[in-house]
Amino acid sequence: MIQTRTPGRELPMLDLIATGPAVASRVPAGPADERLTEYLPETRALPRFHVWTLGCQMNRSDSEEMAGRLLAAGCEEAPSLDVAELIVINTCAIREGAEQKVIGRQGQLARLKAANPGLRIVLTGCSVREPDRAGLRRRYPAVDLFLRPDEEPELVDRLGLASAHAPIGAVGATTTVGRTVVGAADRLAGTRAQAVGSGTVARGSAISAWLPIIYGCDKTCTYCIVPFSRGPERSRPFDDILDEARTLAAAGYREVTLLGQNVNSYGHDLAPEPRFAHVAGARWAGRQLDLAGRPDLAELIRAIEDLRTSDGRPAIGRLRFVTSHPWDLSDRLISALADCESVCEHLHLPVQSGSDPVLRRMGRQYTIGHYLERLARIREAVPGIAISTDIIVGFCGETEAQFEESLALLETVRYDQVFAAAYSPRPGTPATRLADDVPAADKRRRLNTLLAIQERIGLERNQAWLGREVEVLVDAVNAPRPHGHEDGALDPASAGASRLSGRTRSNKLVHLTGDPSLVGQAVTVQIAHAGPYALRGALVGA
Ligand code: SAH
Ligand code: SF4
Ligand code: F3S
Repeated sequence: MIQTRTPGRELPMLDLIATGPAVASRVPAGPADERLTEYLPETRALPRFHVWTLGCQMNRSDSEEMAGRLLAAGCEEAPSLDVAELIVINTCAIREGAEQKVIGRQGQLARLKAANPGLRIVLTGCSVREPDRAGLRRRYPAVDLFLRPDEEPELVDRLGLASAHAPIGAVGATTTVGRTVVGAADRLAGTRAQAVGSGTVARGSAISAWLPIIYGCDKTCTYCIVPFSRGPERSRPFDDILDEARTLAAAGYREVTLLGQNVNSYGHDLAPEPRFAHVAGARWAGRQLDLAGRPDLAELIRAIEDLRTSDGRPAIGRLRFVTSHPWDLSDRLISALADCESVCEHLHLPVQSGSDPVLRRMGRQYTIGHYLERLARIREAVPGIAISTDIIVGFCGETEAQFEESLALLETVRYDQVFAAAYSPRPGTPATRLADDVPAADKRRRLNTLLAIQERIGLERNQAWLGREVEVLVDAVNAPRPHGHEDGALDPASAGASRLSGRTRSNKLVHLTGDPSLVGQAVTVQIAHAGPYALRGALVGA
């Protein structure tokens, strides 16, 4: 979800699905009703827009929705920031570095505005939090309009771009988390359904799609800004999600990723219904939720699995979901993963630390014992499942010995992939009341040590795939490598073939050589090379 950088080493994005080939600048479609054409504004009167997206898949999904709304209002997409007349920046606030990326571009944005006084800049996403408006204006002086994540559906109206195409939206509302005023995702489910129903989500890929199922976060992680940026958990209605899944299947999508900060707490805030009378369960730790009679993620996954093509196969061949907090990882969900053939054999299960006292300070609600018990059950239910995680090093009060417990956990679990980051205090979060007492140099060293160990484990995990035949959903054509770096991948017989890449069901990145027409196809590849972050192989039968 987050890109992690350490000196000299760059980890891949937690890109559970690649977005597929770059989509060319999009142009607006005409109105559904011909008679509306005469009411449309002159195209040139509308700004050409560019959306700059940072952060996780939720932000990328939100950006697809915003781009869709702008296209529906008649705006064209500009290929880059420099030539846009409207720039929408969808920010991430998870660490200071993520915010700095945008703060550091204010000078460039101001110069663009000086050159084009008509340029308007909107800033939205997780950096926009209600109590902080004066600070926002100070940090982002080039910005004209700030929108909280829950206000994004109002973008077009707030810019005065509503046209014959676009209905006028509602005015924003606020709610509180503790004593902090935050946005509430109350209306997002409705506006999403409207966007899907009217076909205005401008999806970035024709192969893999994101499908938001729950907005916000109710968890108690003391280091995390997300509950303050995105407000409490709000589940989308069960049938709306199924409708969107059906739409995606009909449009030919091969892979769907269910999205939420905590997908496995899906449904607890919905009303009980007789059709879900059989759903029951309890959390195994901490604050309890009343889950009886409400839909849950297991129920949702089974319903999507039941969408079938005419030949009886799952209409969506690959189903994924992120992110799962271990707290809500129920036995019902584990059974659904085991039973449903469409669910991919990969689980991202953030652990954050290998030390119980650190987990307690982080407010994570589980112990390492709990976590390992859940993992053992999953591995028993879905043999060979790939597991990835997130780890924070250098959290408040983390001793050297506690850090070493995180290293020991890597050896115990043997993750396929780890996204690690140094703790970054976030203003307003509960952890700012603890001392950020691990020196920056120690944080950096711990991060490098951990990544080096995981690099070895990742390589060993990947080597287990050598010689095996796997299904790869090809989703990208990559630029040719500079001369001398081709390592024999292109043979003369395959002149005209390109460097392709895709993902296995267990989310391994696989490079291969083949015809670009294979993009969007699930092909069989025999694995010939393994690295710590990717595999390479040859098409079988090609
Ligand atoms: N809801 C998801 C994703 C949260 S953000 C989850 O709970 O897993 C993704 C990751 O960013 C987290 O898992 C955590 O490892 C990291 N993160 C969050 N806040 C952070 C902070 N203040 N400093 C460093 N890393 C942080
Ligand atoms: Fe942040 Fe924790 Fe919520 Fe994830 S579960 S978004 S880490 S508060
Ligand atoms: Fe970043 Fe917000 Fe996602 S803080 S990680 S964009 S939920």
